[in-house]
Amino acid sequence: MYKNKTPIIIGSDHAAYPLKEKVKKYIIEKGIDVKDIGAFSEDSVDYTDYGIKVASSVSTGEFERGILLCGTGLGMSMVANRFNHVRAALCNDLFSAIMSRQHNNSNILVMGGRLIGDGLAFEIVTAWLETPFEGGRHQSRIEKFDTISG
Ligand code: RB5
Repeated sequence: MYKNKTPIIIGSDHAAYPLKEKVKKYIIEKGIDVKDIGAFSEDSVDYTDYGIKVASSVSTGEFERGILLCGTGLGMSMVANRFNHVRAALCNDLFSAIMSRQHNNSNILVMGGRLIGDGLAFEIVTAWLETPFEGGRHQSRIEKFDTISG
């Protein structure tokens, strides 16, 4: 289980709105609080705006972890990884989700609503919530992220 059950911040654009709603319900049913920052319909919006909201909240530490969804997951992951301390992982498969936790200590999970079905998305979310970071040699590697500028 997701040990500390700290609240999750979630956001999507219009393309992934249906999957975001299902993922949100799935997480709430696990007993984890979710802050949903939109989008709230399938009306066209800019994924950038929603990615900024979630990633900035994780970057400042207001939320420990977040989930972002857009059509492919590409735009959201590009936006989110602009923020300090954010390690956003685009995971449209289970293995990536597990490894992103074990080796990269990912703190934002990104998925593509136009790429994966509900069942796989739920499996990915569960793996991402429950898989611990291994630390050790991976700790010093991820610490170098925050020294990068340019
Ligand atoms: C929206 O059409 C689409 O571009 C967006 O959801 C996402 O896939 C961007 O990376």
